[in-house]
Amino acid sequence: MSSNPVKSAEKSPYILVLGMGGTIAGLAREPKGNPLQYEAGQLGVELLLSHVESGLPAGIKIVSRQVANINSRNLSDALLTQLGIAVHDSLADLMVMGIVITHGTDTIEETGLFLQATCGKYAQTLGKRVILTGAMLPANAPKADGPSNLLDAIRWASTPIDNCPGGIYAVMDGRGCLAMDLAKRHATAINAPLRDSPSSSVGLINPSWLSGIKAVQAAWNEDLPIPKANEWPWVEILTSHAGARAQTIVHWFGSDVKGLVLAGTGMGGIHDEWKGALDQALGRGIALVRTSRTGAGTIYSDIPEKDTPGCMASGTLSAPRARIALQLALNAANQEKLNGKPLTWQDFFARIADLPEIR
Ligand code: SIN
Repeated sequence: MSSNPVKSAEKSPYILVLGMGGTIAGLAREPKGNPLQYEAGQLGVELLLSHVESGLPAGIKIVSRQVANINSRNLSDALLTQLGIAVHDSLADLMVMGIVITHGTDTIEETGLFLQATCGKYAQTLGKRVILTGAMLPANAPKADGPSNLLDAIRWASTPIDNCPGGIYAVMDGRGCLAMDLAKRHATAINAPLRDSPSSSVGLINPSWLSGIKAVQAAWNEDLPIPKANEWPWVEILTSHAGARAQTIVHWFGSDVKGLVLAGTGMGGIHDEWKGALDQALGRGIALVRTSRTGAGTIYSDIPEKDTPGCMASGTLSAPRARIALQLALNAANQEKLNGKPLTWQDFFARIADLPEIR
């Protein structure tokens, strides 16, 4: 694509659509019976685009690439690396005005945070939008939501830059939000991935939402490196609950686990049964982040109790997002060590966890 002598991205008519799979590319076995019995990742992205051709904005040209065609519950570290590199390289391409990613909604939350933390500043600086989208109903369901989501995403990726700055966003059910604010908090609702996220109508951007976006972007100064496919630090999520046992923590000692995200109760409270084992985990160099299993709200340091030094509170990051943030922070700190610079994983993690909240 880059061989064409286009001078600037704003003059290029090309939107790149990257296919990752998901329900948007899914097929129900009996679409008129129960559309929720289906296989995700069955149709190629080119076919999805052929269904929306007639609704494309005037003058916009589409190119597409199939990065994967999976059910996103099977998303892997290696695929995130592949997607991150594809996004980064395509942002650099003068022929690309914007990027749309069709993705399964189950782990779109992880991909949203990953892309913000690794490509967010770059997209903002270049004035290009990357838009994640998906669907809750498979492509052959009578009321399939994929086509309208895909069209909305293409429109949003291609609208003039003054309306909304470059960056990493998501669009579903007629609304847009920062991709790092995605949070699938409902199993079946048609707006599940962003129903609880600060969002704006894609038709008319809400000025107070827009000023929140600008505050987040002003605070995000530098992208973190994309880990190599085989260099993602191993991080697990453990949930505190009634009847919790120390063995749940001790189990990981002696493994290659580098970090644990603790989804605590309420404000991030951890069962007393875990406390001694968590001190031992810190002593063994395992990174600890404390978040909440409630799925919403901010987790503050030293609330409800004083944190053991070294354990970080997750801020507004949910457990899945905190896990990605911790992996990226550990990877960035490893690279800093190679450079001889003293930044720790906590320094990198805090950059993500402390971003302003859009209200
Ligand atoms: C998936 O995440 O691939 C399946 C579920 C969905 O896309 O809604």
